Amino acid sequence: MVKQKATNITWHEGQISKPDREKLLRQKGVILWFTGLSGSGKSTLAIEVERLLFQRGHITFILDGDNIRHGLNKDLGFSPEDREENIRRIGEVAHLFSQAGIITLTAFISPYRADRNKVRKMAGNGEFVEIYVCCPLEECEKRDPKGLFKKARAGIIPEFTGISAPYEEPENPELRIETHKHSVRECAKRVVLYLEKQGIIPVV
Ligand code: ADX
Repeated sequence: MVKQKATNITWHEGQISKPDREKLLRQKGVILWFTGLSGSGKSTLAIEVERLLFQRGHITFILDGDNIRHGLNKDLGFSPEDREENIRRIGEVAHLFSQAGIITLTAFISPYRADRNKVRKMAGNGEFVEIYVCCPLEECEKRDPKGLFKKARAGIIPEFTGISAPYEEPENPELRIETHKHSVRECAKRVVLYLEKQGIIPVV
């Protein structure tokens, strides 16, 4: 838990509300939280979903683990505490984006259930859509797009998720997508269909 350090600070309310922005943008501001092992296809799927949404005239933004760790979170590693702080910061940023009315896609392993649930709670009703990008460890290891599993097996990378650090599967995700069974396109279409069904985007 991060304690608030500053005192004498006051919250300012603007005149434009989230529903005002959503009406203008003809979409709901939500967080599409992709979680899963490294190599499961989180980034690939988020990129394809964003492409489909953008084509339909929606405003979106992707926050991606590898990218964010180059900037905002460059001071964090992969200990449980650092991963917790990683997800806390991303949760806050994603919440700001969704408050702005943007469909915000996040692609982080986010291995701890408690950390994901904290973001869910902070974001509030219906704003947090947990998408479990489900792929067997053996398949992720076979794909090994960055050669990291090989290094982890060789003991070169410590605390590697799935090998020497845990991954806690979501218990009740809004969506569970099995990337080893369907094409990227099919998986992405399922996400878009869900968004239509929930009234997050209009049906075209
Ligand atoms: S998280 O666990 O804190 O959510 P995050 O998604 O930001 O992780 O970063 C994961 C990415 O960092 C992986 O896709 C991989 O490229 C890289 N990485 C480097 N070291 C590790 C490690 N020890 N465990 C998992 N991923 C790692």
